[in-house]
Amino acid sequence: MTVHEAAQIVLRDMTGDDVHAASELSFEQQWPHREEDWALFLSIGEGLVAEIDGKIVGSILGWRFGDHFASIGMVIVTNAVQGRGIGRQLMEAMLRRFEGRTVMLNATVEGVPLYRKLGFEEYGTICQHQAVSPAQPLVPLRQGERVRPMGAADGEALETLYANASGIDRKLILDTFQAEGSTVVLCREHEQTGFAILRRYGRGWAIAPVVAPDVTGAKALLAHWLGTQTGSFCRIDIAENSELGAWLTEIGLPEVGRVTCMVRGTAPVPGDAATVFGIAAQALG
Ligand SMILES: CC(C)(COP(=O)(O)OP(=O)(O)OC[C@H]1O[C@@H](n2cnc3c(N)ncnc32)[C@H](O)[C@@H]1OP(=O)(O)O)[C@@H](O)C(=O)NCCC(=O)NCCS
Repeated sequence: MTVHEAAQIVLRDMTGDDVHAASELSFEQQWPHREEDWALFLSIGEGLVAEIDGKIVGSILGWRFGDHFASIGMVIVTNAVQGRGIGRQLMEAMLRRFEGRTVMLNATVEGVPLYRKLGFEEYGTICQHQAVSPAQPLVPLRQGERVRPMGAADGEALETLYANASGIDRKLILDTFQAEGSTVVLCREHEQTGFAILRRYGRGWAIAPVVAPDVTGAKALLAHWLGTQTGSFCRIDIAENSELGAWLTEIGLPEVGRVTCMVRGTAPVPGDAATVFGIAAQALG
């Protein structure tokens, strides 16, 4: 990198006015995010853009969860200026903001080398499944179980379930996604044991997050939403070890890509009350 090139790069806070330019960055990478998706992500977090001569050439978003965790996503440097240290500058600036926190992210193949250099380690894989949803078979529920719309009294129980399943305070995501999408709750007798949120995202709909006590419960929640969306484009991002991949492929939602889960710091410790079968979004974790 020459001194001249380095001097041109300016990092500044991302604002709502930058959402259009940011969405052009993701469009160039053939990522599906709409301006609405960027705006929602930014509204619950913080962002930086990199500019050269007043033109936005790079982006990064970050989110704080409780006092101990944070995640980073939407790290993009436009193709023409990749390899000049801009990605590293964006990451280092966001990591400075998150000092003292464990930071997580889901890395593309292109991102992994940079994140490794910054102290991130691999700990899992997320598989992206998507397609126009075909007619769905019903998943039989067990005795005493049912899937029903979320009610006003469910908020606290779902927050506790999500926190337990992820080991992280996820209230921010839960409140935002519930307000924006539709939530169904899995109950055993009268106890809430899982939930799944359907919301507009990217090319169609995302079922995200999906939290359930076991794989049967996760299938019941997914089948509920897929059944209502027959003929619409649906996406689900699952943990590789969730045992859902083969089933999703079988019912018509094949895997189309993978990202690597990486962490810098002490990883969260999930409880055993429930499992996160589908993540909220690749960017958010
Ligand atoms: C990933 C991305 C943001 C990196 O941005 P960038 O500005 O090109 O990266 P930098 O120039 O800052 O390089 C970062 C470091 O990674 C290293 N690196 C990059 N690719 C590498 C590879 N294949 N093997 C080894 N090291 C590699 C660079 O040498 C550099 O190391 P250094 O800082 O010690 O010299 C950019 O490639 C990009 O936008 N890719 C498409 C979108 C994407 O996948 N984003 C990641 C989402 S998780």
